[in-house]
Parts: sequence; C-alpha cells; structure tokens
Amino acid sequence: NHEYYADQNEQGVRIFDPGFSNTAVSTSNVTYVNGPKGFMQYRGYPIGDIVGRKSFLDTAYLLIWGDWPTANQLRDFETKLINVPLPYQSVFNVIRSFPPDGSCMGMIIAGLSALQSTQMPLIPAHAAKNLYLGNSELVDQEIVNFLGSYVIVVAIVYCHHTGRDFTMPRSDLSYIENFFLMTGHVDSTTKLPNPKYVDNFERLWILIANHEMTCSTAALLQTASSLPDVFSCMISALSALYGPLHGGAIEVAYKNIKEVGTVENAQAKIDRVKAGKERLYGYGHRLYKVKDPRSVFIREIADQLQEEIAEDPLLKVAFEIDRIASEDEYFTSRKLSLNADLYAAFAYKAM
Ligand code: ACO
Repeated sequence: NHEYYADQNEQGVRIFDPGFSNTAVSTSNVTYVNGPKGFMQYRGYPIGDIVGRKSFLDTAYLLIWGDWPTANQLRDFETKLINVPLPYQSVFNVIRSFPPDGSCMGMIIAGLSALQSTQMPLIPAHAAKNLYLGNSELVDQEIVNFLGSYVIVVAIVYCHHTGRDFTMPRSDLSYIENFFLMTGHVDSTTKLPNPKYVDNFERLWILIANHEMTCSTAALLQTASSLPDVFSCMISALSALYGPLHGGAIEVAYKNIKEVGTVENAQAKIDRVKAGKERLYGYGHRLYKVKDPRSVFIREIADQLQEEIAEDPLLKVAFEIDRIASEDEYFTSRKLSLNADLYAAFAYKAM
C-alpha cells in the first residue's frame, strides 16, 4: 500500500528495535554493566569494592542520591525507614484474604496497592498541582516511605504464606534485622536474628539492588513518565520483574529442579531442553555472555552456608544439572551459564 508507506516516511526515521537492544531511552550515572567483559559498577564503584565493605543501606543511599552517606545521613535514613507507620489493618486483611499457597508476588502487589490507596494523594488533586514535577523532596519522602513499607508488606506476605505470626518491628534493630524479626526468623532466647544471616542478606541485597536498564527498571521508568506516585511505579516494576524470563525465572527454576527430583533425572531434563521442548530456567542472561560478576560473591555466601545448604536435597540436583550443562556444546556454544540468582535462591532458602 503506497499511501501507507508514504505516510510512514513523512513522519521521519522509524526504527524497528525489538527488545530495545539498539535504542537508548535514557542516560544514567547509576549503574554500569559491561556484559561482554563481565563487570558492573554502582556510581562508578566496582561491585567488588562494595560487597562486604559497605552496608545495604549505604549502597541504597549511594544508588538513590549519588554519594556515600555520612554517618549522620545514614543514621537519619535508617531511622526514617524503620519508623514508617505500620500499614493499616486493611492492608493485612487484603493480604490475608489470599489463599496462603497462592502467588506471593500477587499478594505483595495487592498489599502495596492497598497501602497506596490509603497513603497516596488522589490523582486529580496532585495533577492539578503538578505534585511530583520539580518536587524532589516529595519524591525522596515517597522513596523512603516505599522502602520502609516494602519490607513490612513482604514480611506480612511471607508470614501468611508460611503460616507464621507476624512480629512487630523494633526501632532499636536495623532495617535488615527487622526483616528477620517480622518474619519470625530469630533466636528463641535472644529474640535476635543470626548475625551471619543478617550479614549475608546485606551482601545479597547489595548484589541485586540495581542492574542498569532491566525489564523491570524500564517498566518503572515508563510508568514514572506519566507521573503517578512512587508506589505505583514500583508495582509496575514488580509486575515486570515477576515474569519467568526475568526475576520470576528463579521461582520457575526452583520448581523445575523439584520436578527433576533426583540426580538420575538430570540428563533427561537437559535432553528435553536441547530438543527445544523446554527452557532451562536460571540459565542465560541478556547481558552476560561471560560469567556474571555477581556469581563469585554469591558463591562465597553459599560457601559460608555450606552446612545449611547441604540439608537441601535439591542442591545436588541443581549441581548435577549445572555439571552436565557446563560440559554440553548446546549451552557452551550459546554462552549460556547459570545466572547468579539461582544460587541466591538456595542461599535464601537455607537461611
Ligand atoms: N535454556 C535453553 N536455551 C536457552 C536458554 C535457556 N535458559 N536461554 C537461551 N537459550 C537459547 C535460545 O533458545 C536461543 O537458541 P537458538 O539460537 O538455537 O534459537 C539462544 O539460546 C539465544 O537465546 P535468546 O533468547 O535470544 O537469548 P537472550 O540473551 O535474548 O535471552 C534470557 C536471555 C531471556 C535470560 C534467556 O536466556 C532465558 O530465557 N533464560 C531463562 C530465563 C531466566 O533464567 N531468566 C533470568 C535472567 S536473570 C534476571 O532477570 C534476574
């Protein structure tokens, strides 16, 4: 249809770019990932200079505001986070109305939506005043409010899913310690979490704090461009994250390993993947065609948790799948290797 093409041409250059792999949609100084060489930096600092040396909140502050916090700024940030108001009872009720064995991500998103509707300004009111444009103070407040509330919502969901009682947070514990407390993972005598686990969470959360223009970050920015509140942007990002090709892959991978069940069945699984009947979740990465730079730190964490992880019978199955895949031409020729998140899933479960 000539007319159609003529119209297209009149509107200037158009590029067909599935996956946005050739189009930059924003500039950013936050995170730099070099996929071919396998390294990443936060605000110019190599990840290896941060993990184990800085706390998760130091890192979050750096990522959000661009500089390491001073001791006072860090204290102030943490105090604000652990003192966000507890969600209204209606938020607990929304989460608890789900079947406990239902989708945890669905419950988290529902809990956040319930919180958003009780806390955030109504759209017409804020649109009239251009509430967010140029008001970085308000956006900062919402970011802090979100980060403080998010761990609470996740903890409520975790407790509902696992049949535990939710424990109220304490203002004398850290952000991460409170996550353990709320989810009931504390020593029965001291009522405090295991410091080794807290330290490992610090490291794991640093490693997954940001990863450049991922699918979820792109979804967040796309949503933010229409100026809703921070909670709504994060709900978009979480929905994108949950897809089985992104963060949701880890849940699928774990279920797949469970289905394989025994070391003896591992080869048959690999054969089905090679025949194109199935995908091996937890394998492959859009950017890294060499080793994921985070995997070395996750292996260190897994080493520290050897005793706990060894109790998980599925780990042997995962190792066997990995052993076969790493020697198989199908995987090596496509540069497919285990992505960092799969071992992180074992580490989380062990703790
Ligand atoms: N299992 C089997 N084959 C695979 C896998 C896999 N996990 N990943 C890629 N391939 C194959 C493809 O079939 C394709 O083969 P072909 O050339 O014969 O057609 C080739 O490798 C290239 O695949 P693409 O999908 O083009 O690779 P891309 O880099 O675009 O995809 C992705 C990356 C989506 C992560 C992919 O590897 C995948 O689906 N992995 C499984 C899901 C997963 O674990 N995602 C988590 C990523 S980490 C994160 O997001 C937190």
